[in-house]
Amino acid sequence: MRRGVLIFLVCNIALVLFLLHSVWTLLELLVFNGIEDAITREELPAIGAEHDDEDGQLIPKIIHQTYINTSIPEVWQEAQQSCLDFHKKPDWEYKLWTDKASLEFIAEEYPEFLETFENYRYPIQRADAIRYFVLDHFGGVYIDLDDGCNRPLEPLLNYPAFVRKTVPTGVSNDAMGAVPHHPFFQRVIEELQNYDRSWVLPYITVMASTGPLFLSIIWRHYTDEGYNIGDGPEGGRIRILFPEEYNNYPWSFFTHHLGNSWHGYDVQLIFWMARNWVLLTIVGFILGGGLLFLGWWSYHRYLLTPSDVPRWKTQSARSRVPFWSRQRHRSEYELVNRHEP
Ligand SMILES: *[C@@H]1O[C@H](CO)[C@@H](O)[C@H](O)[C@H]1NC(C)=O
Repeated sequence: MRRGVLIFLVCNIALVLFLLHSVWTLLELLVFNGIEDAITREELPAIGAEHDDEDGQLIPKIIHQTYINTSIPEVWQEAQQSCLDFHKKPDWEYKLWTDKASLEFIAEEYPEFLETFENYRYPIQRADAIRYFVLDHFGGVYIDLDDGCNRPLEPLLNYPAFVRKTVPTGVSNDAMGAVPHHPFFQRVIEELQNYDRSWVLPYITVMASTGPLFLSIIWRHYTDEGYNIGDGPEGGRIRILFPEEYNNYPWSFFTHHLGNSWHGYDVQLIFWMARNWVLLTIVGFILGGGLLFLGWWSYHRYLLTPSDVPRWKTQSARSRVPFWSRQRHRSEYELVNRHEP
């Protein structure tokens, strides 16, 4: 094979490997579902028997929620109330993290993170971040305001930490719990700074810097490394609440109310992309193939030294149609081959 072709192939393979490496965790998330850490229905008490066995309780009885201020919009009041009703004082503590309270808390307890926290471009990034910090500091259960409670959460307190699985891939940050200083959430808050990057679309920026995509990536890395991280209960294991235990069934812990309040214009695009992923994949392959082809062609057209290519080829208009010239003049290439030192 000619040296030029070899270099071309190696460069392309390197590029493909690099791209694969960059998205490897995302690809893994498509197949990795965390089933081995599932909280199964068999190990959970029946409805009404939630309080029978509270001896093994690890997670403190605190519910955390976030909102701009204390005037919770009417659409979420019912959901909020359902959680308050199942988890009453004085047994349970309820903490609403307003913007002001969140900022004060970070300034006081995690001052090294304050600058990043204040500089987040979108308020929802602060709303995402604060939940990881309060779980690290106080422990407890964080619940999004649009999630209501369907039964007492006590059984979930017997696990050192849990997050919720989303379909088709990854985990969400809308309902999760942990003991204070659980190694998973410690890892999460450590990584926030590294993932504070801006992507073109706000939705992706939020998802990947603080939101569910960020959490899923950290989760994948964390579980990949095994559970012997830190010395938390169960060696830092994080358990997974699967969709049926999350909502829609009589035995589920939560009910999902009105959807995400913060989605903007770009979300339409993302959802459209999700619906049309087959088409997009095909287009992606065509574009990728086209780029490869273009690279190959430019290489021939501009980079081969004149002595490599017969003069008539670089000048002829035909040679600008690469396929054509390649097929018609295979013999010319063979001729060129012989010039290799
Ligand atoms: C809380 O925030 C909402 C939305 O920004 C605003 O309309 C409302 O007036 C605020 N309430 C208080 C008490 O500041």
